[in-house]
Amino acid sequence: MRAHYRAEGLQEEDLAPDPYGQFLRWFEEAVAGGLHEPNAMVVSTADERGRPSSRTVLLKQFDERGFVFYTNYNSIKGREIDANPYVSLLFPWHAVARQVIVAGRAERTGRDETAAYFRTRPHGSQLGAWASEQSSQVASREELDRAYAQLAERYPETERVPVPPHWGGYRVVARTVEFWQGRENRLHDRLRYVRRDPGGPGGPGGSGAAAVWTVERLSP
Ligand SMILES: Cc1cc2nc3c(=O)[nH]c(=O)nc-3n(C[C@H](O)[C@H](O)[C@H](O)COP(=O)(O)O)c2cc1C
Repeated sequence: MRAHYRAEGLQEEDLAPDPYGQFLRWFEEAVAGGLHEPNAMVVSTADERGRPSSRTVLLKQFDERGFVFYTNYNSIKGREIDANPYVSLLFPWHAVARQVIVAGRAERTGRDETAAYFRTRPHGSQLGAWASEQSSQVASREELDRAYAQLAERYPETERVPVPPHWGGYRVVARTVEFWQGRENRLHDRLRYVRRDPGGPGGPGGSGAAAVWTVERLSP
């Protein structure tokens, strides 16, 4: 598959009109290609002083409004996004010689949207969201297991687990999306969609605004 993609390349005329359509094509090809967890992406954030941090999360939804993942709002990433909403997402699809890099602004999903997704999670994962104060120091594994056991007692399988107030989604509203396709001799294809908001650069943006996208080719 890798060799096949390398030969084929990525041409401007083959791109979808917007990066979400193009992402959907590549995502479907990644799934068809048997990639393990193609929705795993590296999210990079930076604190208010510009110091970066990265971690893997799972993409749970995407459409023209943005790319959504769920996490603990009090985690390191959550606190960094509070201080500085600019983030980067990277899909490392090495097995098919591709990567997609998104740069944009993260905003919290609405509570209804978060609750709807939370309800789809297995009971144990719902309890885990309560049991773990993500990114804070924990004294021991036993402490974590104890917290979980107490919650499991309080909320047996038959009981509805409330959505933790500190847990929810982030939607990354893309400003640029780069599609990287590995080619021979390191002459890779890099096509980057750049969002031009109505009203020009620096326009209101946000997930509600209709975006106009231009595409630029970057040197590999
Ligand atoms: C494959 C994979 C998927 C993960 N998915 C998520 C996820 O969807 N949400 C999440 O909060 N953490 C997820 N994690 C754990 C994060 O990488 C990270 O450890 C955690 O979110 C705490 O990050 P932080 O302390 O930088 O905020 C995942 C880890 C791996 C390896």
